[in-house]
Formats: sequence, structure tokens, C-alpha cells
Amino acid sequence: MKSSLPLVLVLALSAACSSNTVTTDPPPSGAAAEATPTEPPPADDGTTEPSKTPPLRDAIDPSILSALKGANIDIAALPDDLEEIAKSPAKLKAVMKTFTIALGTTCEGCHAKSGTKIDYEAATPKKNVAKKMWTDLVRGLQKKDGKPLYCDSCHQGKMEFLDRADDKALGAWMKNNFVDKLARRDGAEHGCATCHGEPFKGEILDGWSK
Ligand code: HEC
Ligand code: HEC
Ligand code: HEC
Repeated sequence: MKSSLPLVLVLALSAACSSNTVTTDPPPSGAAAEATPTEPPPADDGTTEPSKTPPLRDAIDPSILSALKGANIDIAALPDDLEEIAKSPAKLKAVMKTFTIALGTTCEGCHAKSGTKIDYEAATPKKNVAKKMWTDLVRGLQKKDGKPLYCDSCHQGKMEFLDRADDKALGAWMKNNFVDKLARRDGAEHGCATCHGEPFKGEILDGWSK
């Protein structure tokens, strides 16, 4: 929000320049109101400790890249739906391995045991979240420079990695990492609302797990 005001001025200035008119009129008040997003301010006023969540990882883990490559999966052209992967046993096996690496977990981190055997087909809350993360995050987003995003870019070997001690600090971290370093693949404007919706809802994973 702080950063969108200068943008309005820049746009107003460049519009004034390109139409070759010299004007000192301020932009119409409606323009500023329109440019003001309704999401909560992530700004840190300096009284909160910065979030301890590590920054978004730049390079994708080499063992993940080689597992995908070994199954002929192009990380730059993943299918939008995980079910596409599941059609090939070799691809499914490779992707499942990458999930355990990226999240630092075992198969049972997402699949539930039924007696002594794991029931891979059964739906679980974690499986549901994983499917949404694939479609909405890994496939819905990319790095700002166009490079692909994968589970480990955010997770970095941990299923849970957010420092939730302070909502304000976490909001500032989210702005720096999940908003400013990422873009939507559909080209639409990217902000907190991409993941948190409008109006802003903090806890979104409950809904994703169903
Ligand atoms: C991060 C969560 C996660 C982890 C960890 C994980 N899986 Fe999966 N697994 C899924 C999801 C989600 C699907 C559903 C894929 C789809 O859309 O068809 C799935 C599907 C499967 C299936 C196909 C089930 C069916 O419906 O036929 C098998 C088999 C499987 N996983 C095996 C494994 C193995 C083996 C491991 C450990 C090496 C593992 N998974 C680790 C999330 C996970
Ligand atoms: C843009 C960042 C991002 C990407 C990419 C991402 N995740 Fe997540 N994921 C998160 C965040 C944030 C959480 C919440 C972590 C926490 O609570 O500390 C989370 C949590 C999860 C959880 C745990 C849910 C629960 O019930 O606690 C699973 C499972 C998961 N992600 C799977 C995946 C898989 C599989 C992929 C890759 C297909 C993936 N994620 C990609 C951001 C991401
Ligand atoms: C790429 C997706 C994504 C973007 C973009 C994003 N967040 Fe998040 N955020 C998450 C996920 C996932 C969680 C974990 C939600 C949960 O636990 O249910 C989370 C959690 C949070 C929480 C903690 C909520 C709670 O109640 O525990 C805050 C605060 C937050 N985000 C603020 C923001 C702000 C502010 C922005 C915009 C500057 C933003 N986020 C952008 C994915 C995102």
C-alpha cells in the first residue's frame, strides 16, 4: 500500500508527459482510492522482531531435480494437475520422493496407515493440502524472473516452517518473499489475496485440507 502511492504518481506523471500537457493537477482522488488494496498492512513499524522464517530458496534442491529428470519430468513444464503425474507409476514414484525430500518427511507424512500397511489411495488432510499446493502454488505461481517454483523453494526440508510468533512480522516476511519474489503464471496481479483471498483470511490451510 505504501508502495502503490508513488506508482499512482508515476502513472499520473507519465500520462501527463505523454499527452504533452504541462499540468500540476494532483491525480483525481478516485485514482488513489482505487489503487489502495484492501488487504491488511504487512508493514513492520520497527517494534516487532523480524520473522525467523528463512527466505524463499533460490535454487531447487539438486536431488529433487535429478529425481524429476530421472523420470523424464520437465520441471519447467509440470502438469497443472497431479493426477496427470499419477498416470505413470515411474513419474508418480519420482514425484512422491521429491515430496519427502522437500518436506523432510516420510510417505506416512501424508499417507495414513491402515493396520500394518499404508493406504496410499485413501484421502488424508495432508494429501488434500499437497494437491492444492501443487495446483495453486507450484503451478499457479513462478519466480518473478520466470524460473519455476517447487515445493522445496518454500518448504526447504520442513513440513512446517513459518515462524508464527508475531503476525505482523510474518506478514512483512510474506510480503518480501511470497509477494515480491513471486508472480502469477496467468499474469494477473499478485498479492496477499492470491493465497489469502479477499477479504483477507489468515488461516487458509484448514479449508485446503478438506
Ligand atoms: C506431501 C504429501 C505426500 C507425501 C510425503 C507422499 N505422498 Fe504419495 N500422494 C500424495 C498425493 C497428494 C497423492 C495423490 C496424487 C493424485 O492426485 O492422484 C499421492 C498419491 C500416491 C499414490 C497413488 C495412490 C492412488 O490413488 O493410486 C501412491 C502409490 C503414493 N502416493 C505413494 C507414496 C510414497 C511411496 C511416498 C513416500 C516415498 C509418498 N507417496 C509420499 C501426497 C504425498
Ligand atoms: C509458495 C510457497 C509454498 C510452496 C511452493 C509449497 N508450499 Fe506447502 N506450505 C506452504 C506454507 C506457508 C505452509 C504452512 C507451513 C507452516 O505451517 O509452517 C505449507 C504447508 C504444507 C503442508 C502441511 C499442511 C498442514 O496440514 O500442516 C503440506 C503437506 C504441504 N505444504 C505440501 C506441499 C507440497 C507437496 C508442495 C509442492 C507440490 C508445496 N507444499 C509447495 C507454502 C508452500
Ligand atoms: C503464496 C501464498 C501466500 C501469499 C502470497 C501470502 N501468504 Fe500469508 N500465508 C500463506 C500460507 C499457506 C499460510 C499458512 C496459513 C494457515 O496456517 O492456515 C500463511 C499465513 C499467514 C499469516 C499467519 C496467519 C495465522 O492466522 O496464523 C499471516 C499473518 C500472513 N500469512 C500474512 C500475509 C500477508 C500480509 C500477505 C501479503 C503481504 C501474505 N500473507 C501473502 C500463504 C501466502
